[in-house]
Parts: sequence; C-alpha cells; structure tokens
Amino acid sequence: MEDDHVLGAAELHERPEFEIPTGEIAFSVERDLQHHGLGRRLFRRIIGHAQALGYIQLKVTTHPGNVAMRRLARSFGAHLRFMDGETTGTVVLSPVEESALPIILTSQSGEQPVREFA
Ligand SMILES: CC(C)(COP(=O)(O)OP(=O)(O)OC[C@H]1O[C@@H](n2cnc3c(N)ncnc32)[C@H](O)[C@@H]1OP(=O)(O)O)[C@@H](O)C(=O)NCCC(=O)NCCS
Repeated sequence: MEDDHVLGAAELHERPEFEIPTGEIAFSVERDLQHHGLGRRLFRRIIGHAQALGYIQLKVTTHPGNVAMRRLARSFGAHLRFMDGETTGTVVLSPVEESALPIILTSQSGEQPVREFA
C-alpha cells in the first residue's frame, strides 16, 4: 500500500472440505508494478500468516497460461496439476514453533498477552 493506494493484495480463505487445515490463496499485483518482486513478497507473507494460523496446506488455482503465477507457486514448493482447464498447486507448510510466532504484549495490568500477526 502506498499513499492509501493498494498496489497488490493477497487473499487467504478457508477450505473446510479438506480433512487437514487447508487454505486457498490468491494474489493480485497492479499491472504496472508486476514483475518487480511484489508477488513474491506477498506469497512469502501469506505463508507466514497461514503457518501462524495453523494451516497445513495451501491451494492456489490459476490459468495454465499464467506463467508468473506458476513460476511463483513452484518456487514456493507447490506441486502443480492441470485439471478441468485449470492449474492447481498445493503448498505443504511446515509447522512453526510456538516460540517463533510474533507476540505483542499489551502493557495494561491484568491483560493477557495479545498475539498479532504483522
Ligand atoms: C501473478 C502475479 C500476482 C505475480 O506478481 P508479480 O509481482 O508480477 O510477481 P514477481 O515479480 O514476484 O515474480 C514472480 C515470478 O514470476 C515471474 N514473472 C513475473 N511476471 C512475469 C511475466 N509477465 N512473464 C513471465 N514470468 C513472469 C518472475 O520472473 C518471477 O519468477 P522468477 O523468480 O523465477 O524469476 C501478478 O502477475 C498478477 O497480479 N497477475 C494478475 C492476477 C493473477 O493472475 N493472479 C494469480 C491468480 S491466484
């Protein structure tokens, strides 16, 4: 985000139909800013959030001709499959240590620590 202008966005949605905690991710970077590493930064960041939230795997679906998204997903370890005219990738996440999660402590007495995900 720059001067209240959204330059790119990443989404994470629950996929409750899977037996293990699964999320669906999607990305969008403003056209003029594509191919400058923003997509990679968003991808890395959403993986961190998903791990912190306890997801085990992430699904990403894209058009087979979307070279940028395919390269991006592959570089994060996604196994890509072509099915029903779409390419679907699965990124398997490694669990994070509880101690590695970012914690912001509130200072008011008696309050429990609040964990926030930057
Ligand atoms: C897909 C998208 C999010 C990638 O974001 P980005 O900021 O352009 O990506 P990055 O600059 O981080 O580059 C990621 C990889 O894609 C490659 N790439 C980026 N644009 C490319 C292009 N036009 N053609 C070929 N490769 C491209 C980069 O080289 C990089 O791969 P590398 O590290 O192996 O070199 C962006 O192109 C986009 O918003 N597209 C429209 C929406 C969309 O298709 N979303 C995907 C559905 S989930």
